[in-house]
Amino acid sequence: MGMESKFIWVDGALVEFEKATVHMLTAALHYGAAVFEGIRAYKTDKGPAVFRLREHSDRLLESAEIFGFREMPFTVDGVAQAIKDTVRANGFDECYIRPLLYLTGGAWNLNIDAGRPALMIAVWEWTNYLGDEALANGIRANISSYTRHHPNVMMTKAKVAGNYVNSILAKTESMRLGFEEAIMLDPQGYVAECTGENLFLVRKGKIITPSTAPVLEGLTRHSIYTIATDLGYDVIEQPISRDQLYSSDEVFVCGTAAEVIGLSEIDFRRIGDGKTGPVTRAIQNVYHDAIRGKVDKYECWCDYVN
Ligand SMILES: Cc1ncc(COP(=O)(O)O)c(C=O)c1O
Repeated sequence: MGMESKFIWVDGALVEFEKATVHMLTAALHYGAAVFEGIRAYKTDKGPAVFRLREHSDRLLESAEIFGFREMPFTVDGVAQAIKDTVRANGFDECYIRPLLYLTGGAWNLNIDAGRPALMIAVWEWTNYLGDEALANGIRANISSYTRHHPNVMMTKAKVAGNYVNSILAKTESMRLGFEEAIMLDPQGYVAECTGENLFLVRKGKIITPSTAPVLEGLTRHSIYTIATDLGYDVIEQPISRDQLYSSDEVFVCGTAAEVIGLSEIDFRRIGDGKTGPVTRAIQNVYHDAIRGKVDKYECWCDYVN
């Protein structure tokens, strides 16, 4: 995966890619003490547009607040503007955007107040996160042997870097077992989310997703909720058990990186007829048009860079 670009935004200035480095003794590197976002810009008729930029910028600062940063030298407007500047400076039509707000300047005593937050924003070309086949054929997943975070152990509404050790454990295990994604259960044993995606199922004509209590409040989840409701589907939030997944007509996952991807198989059980189902496909098609500014009603989700 090529992650190169011309510039990375570092604390207020665009710095050449090779020069955007941190010191080995940055606290964030040792303790996972950082919060981040995953955002995408897409090619539209009016040039590149960042999808749901305001909401992502907002969630970045919310994550920082949840994590405990008190003195915040960045604003939502400032972050959003810096993201647009970074996309423009690098000249990509479409790219993935990674802002990272990290703990630096001390904090070796595990006290966030002893350090300060610094911000970097990188962009790179990244198209199919779950692989070439995923969109056409769906992917195979398993229920992970790892449990998703208890909401009072790690803060599940914050994209804290350290939270993602749980995702790395689960994803690596699933891929070594020959699956493409891991589904994690919450500490009570109900379906929570995947390593970087929220999950929906379709059963007897209804669309069901876990409540946001134990999971990240995904912005793609919100977009899908809106699109599905506008298409006339009932979308219900309720606890989902592992075996309800097995007997679903369709299961799909969604996230900024993955977009909308059907699951063809879970724990060696075929879901529906093993192909991306009609409800998933209908939602996926509208989502693909929405992210590229082609649906009037959702154009407000697209923030044009130029
Ligand atoms: C754990 C987790 N759940 C869900 C999501 C989906 O969130 P979004 O749609 O905002 O990208 C992500 C990705 O950011 C994630 O890391």
